[in-house]
Amino acid sequence: MDTPELHVTEENGRRKLDIDIRDMGVDDIPAVFHLGEQVFTADKTPTLYRTWDEFEVVSMFNADTDYCLVAELEDQIIGFTLGNVVEKKKSAWKYGYVVWLVVSPEFQRIGVASRLFNKLTDKMVEDGVRMFLVDTEADNLPALQFFRSRGFGNPQQHIYMTYNPATIEQQKEKKRGSRGKKNGNDHRRNS
Ligand SMILES: CC(C)(COP(=O)(O)OP(=O)(O)OC[C@H]1O[C@@H](n2cnc3c(N)ncnc32)[C@H](O)[C@@H]1OP(=O)(O)O)[C@@H](O)C(=O)NCCC(=O)NCCS
Repeated sequence: MDTPELHVTEENGRRKLDIDIRDMGVDDIPAVFHLGEQVFTADKTPTLYRTWDEFEVVSMFNADTDYCLVAELEDQIIGFTLGNVVEKKKSAWKYGYVVWLVVSPEFQRIGVASRLFNKLTDKMVEDGVRMFLVDTEADNLPALQFFRSRGFGNPQQHIYMTYNPATIEQQKEKKRGSRGKKNGNDHRRNS
């Protein structure tokens, strides 16, 4: 694959990447999954890393095919977005949720996410969406800056917690062990 610079054209003084933003197809599922796997790493985005898997891609594609888009350059998927529209009973409002938005690291900062995002949100507006939602980890600065650049504001804190039953069991075991030892010592002290 060539460098991104080779695919940038100038239009009215603005740099534009010569890529195709199109609807995702069933054949794109593996490439989308692998790109997400490359970007969502345990050290940089631990929560997104945990929730990203092939079933996530398949189920989003299955449920809301119209809101799954890819960015393609020379037959290679270099970005994607997966979203859905949430309708609430007793509310006239439709909410557009941009669930996943990813651009391959070597193609970032040249407007690929902006184009994916604009196309997705345009589709959602056509379908009656009046409010958009996004979420990401609090320290994911590129994503936060990106969403701010698209007009998102009013951030609300949301805390993710994790629970690993095996670790809790080990801790309980350890406690029981140290209590047993302590009782044994006490017994010796008292005798
Ligand atoms: C967030 C992400 C999708 C942005 O993709 P991108 O193609 O680089 O974004 P764009 O080039 O369209 O950027 C548009 C604007 O967003 C802001 N922005 C994007 N990345 C930024 C960064 N790393 N630092 C600061 N601002 C950034 C800038 O204002 C930028 O405009 P500018 O380049 O003219 O300054 C990309 O960084 C990514 O894939 N991150 C990993 C996946 C992720 O965390 N996704 C979000 C949660 S699902």
